[in-house]
Amino acid sequence: MRVFITGASGWIGSAVTDELLANGYQVLGLARSDSSAEALEAKGAEVLRGDLDDLEALRSGASSTDATIHLANKHDWANPAVSNKAEREAVETIGEALAGSNRKFLLASGVAGAVAGRALTENDASPFHGLESPRGGSENRALEYVEQGVGTVSVRFAPTVHGAGDQGFVKFIVDAARANGFSGYVGDGANNWPAVHRSDAARVVRLGLEKAAPGTLLHAIGEQAIPTRTIAEAIGRGLNLPVRSIDPGEATAKLGMIGGFFAMDIPASSALTQQLLGWTPTGPTLVDDLDAGSYFA
Ligand SMILES: NC(=O)c1ccc[n+]([C@@H]2O[C@H](COP(=O)([O-])OP(=O)(O)OC[C@H]3O[C@@H](n4cnc5c(N)ncnc54)[C@H](OP(=O)(O)O)[C@@H]3O)[C@@H](O)[C@H]2O)c1
Repeated sequence: MRVFITGASGWIGSAVTDELLANGYQVLGLARSDSSAEALEAKGAEVLRGDLDDLEALRSGASSTDATIHLANKHDWANPAVSNKAEREAVETIGEALAGSNRKFLLASGVAGAVAGRALTENDASPFHGLESPRGGSENRALEYVEQGVGTVSVRFAPTVHGAGDQGFVKFIVDAARANGFSGYVGDGANNWPAVHRSDAARVVRLGLEKAAPGTLLHAIGEQAIPTRTIAEAIGRGLNLPVRSIDPGEATAKLGMIGGFFAMDIPASSALTQQLLGWTPTGPTLVDDLDAGSYFA
């Protein structure tokens, strides 16, 4: 089976590419630079040159392969409208290319802001629909193509897909701690984040490709709820810095764009995903990874 992956050279995408290649798949990876193309070719993937604005490349990748996994994202944190527009256009382009094919279309999504006061489950539909909503409402937009014969499966990743080399949200919090001279949590730090190790997340994607029916929501969640104070304490240990509370009104001033996220209580369950896919997270926990030191090198 030949699989088109956008974002194949990214943090999650490179692990997914390795996971698929190791399990006998062929990978066609979208690459926007020479270095990304070389990295993909070096591991035995084919390369399709193009970027997210090159909708013809997305169309060609999706229509010339047996399945598509969409992981590329502009991640323009200063101007999320840019990322949201690109995300929605990519989903619509891939959805239209796959209409009537019954081929699988897995896309990345998240867990933030969907429910309050309890853990999000795979039975909770996303409340985000429009272009102006988080991720441009891409999950619901992609699911609309199921009716047109597309095998859409949404993979909701924990806000930290962690491991050695991670440059994502936890790295932002570590960098803010360095700049502040203390490791901060927001308020009493009792609000929770879920987490998943990158290797576990990559296996969810492969198993989702193999086993999930069109319209399925999967949760790549290894740990359901880690108090953010526990995360801040591990960062304080790693940097040898004091740990202290940040007033919620100062979260963005002290932590930057990640402040608003780190203040959120976003527990999420993966019980249904584990049952459906026969998947058990086996990678290190987030605190194990922090204590192992790579975030502070
Ligand atoms: N990591 C997490 O903790 C996490 C949590 C929740 C959801 N997600 C979602 O999961 C997906 C993958 O995340 P990630 O952490 O692997 O992100 P990442 O490491 O930033 O990788 C993003 C990928 O997108 C590619 N890309 C960026 N801008 C592009 C453009 N204009 N055209 C084409 N490709 C472009 C990058 O290409 P280059 O390699 O050439 O730079 C890279 O391959 C994203 O949708 C992300 O929002 C991630």
